[in-house]
Amino acid sequence: MSLKLRTLGKSGIKVTEIGLGLWAAGGGEWGQPGDEDSLRAIDAALDAGVNFFDTSDVYGNGHSEELLGKAMRGRRDRFVVATKIGWRGFDGQKRCTAYQNVAQLIAGVESNLERLQTDYVDLIQSHISFRDPTMEIFLEGFQKLKAAGKVRAYGMSSSDFEYIQAFTQDGQCATLQIDYSLLNRTPEGAIFDHCQRNGIGVIVRGALAMGILTGKLREDSSFGEGDFRSKWLTDPEQNITYRRDLAHVAELRGLERSDRSLAQAALQFTLAHPAVSTVIPGARNAHQVASNVGAASAPALSPEDWALIDRVVPPRGGRKIWPA
Ligand SMILES: NC(=O)c1ccc[n+]([C@@H]2O[C@H](COP(=O)([O-])OP(=O)(O)OC[C@H]3O[C@@H](n4cnc5c(N)ncnc54)[C@H](OP(=O)(O)O)[C@@H]3O)[C@@H](O)[C@H]2O)c1
Repeated sequence: MSLKLRTLGKSGIKVTEIGLGLWAAGGGEWGQPGDEDSLRAIDAALDAGVNFFDTSDVYGNGHSEELLGKAMRGRRDRFVVATKIGWRGFDGQKRCTAYQNVAQLIAGVESNLERLQTDYVDLIQSHISFRDPTMEIFLEGFQKLKAAGKVRAYGMSSSDFEYIQAFTQDGQCATLQIDYSLLNRTPEGAIFDHCQRNGIGVIVRGALAMGILTGKLREDSSFGEGDFRSKWLTDPEQNITYRRDLAHVAELRGLERSDRSLAQAALQFTLAHPAVSTVIPGARNAHQVASNVGAASAPALSPEDWALIDRVVPPRGGRKIWPA
């Protein structure tokens, strides 16, 4: 069954309802990148009909963008590319980005394009998750880049409703990328209502809760060297939350069937909300891509499944998996 297309808010850009997130492909916080596996994952996604790919200038310090650029060579037209800008050179003390004027912001996005080896991206997103002193510079810069044909649309990535309202106030922002999953239903309500009212397409990240919602993790699971998820075991506070998540997952296993994995049910859950344009599960290899794309053709969630979901994490309940 082919993947359905949905529209990215007011941009009019059509994307497959399941895309591919390329954070782990960059390495960095996720430990050593496996470039060959990541390139095969991108190929597998294309073969399955996926057209939407999400990356950022900071994933692996640019490595994820470079890898996607390599994968796109000679076939740029098969990719709808979303990338992000904001965290490079961020001043933590002043809580302010490095982009002090519009020219600097535009030069920054031109660096994104160079790493991606393309002369335009379909979607540029502000990666900053809270209002900082350069928000207006981002808005003006993104609008100029759009007028120049270097980006087709722009959006933001955040879970902070006040900031989302400010960033989208002039009516030109096309998308919101946000953490939303069976374990984090907090965007339901005010944030999704705002998006639906204002033609803002929602891009769901963290739908697998960074692996927790695949059902493969245990209290004593170990992660690869440099993988930031190790903190879920070593940091006492994070460990309490991690164990609570695993307890929820034990109950959510009731969603598994012989022809639908828990991960597939988790992806279907996000796609069921009418505000959602696409979900972008991260994947390390072609096998994970195939499994995730399979969510589109697996049996749909039943009323009994929804009752279970609402019992484990009620509507608007749960917690953000990633602080952004
Ligand atoms: N601030 C932001 O803008 C922001 C923040 C977070 C994410 N994002 C974007 O959203 C994308 C998705 O989020 P995410 O990557 O953080 O989390 P996710 O999609 O919830 O989880 C992805 C991870 O789960 C594991 N996995 C995926 N599919 C699997 C399968 N079928 N079976 C078993 N394991 C599987 C893989 O890691 P292992 O194999 O190592 O377990 C993979 O890296 C990112 O790649 C990025 O593009 C953006």
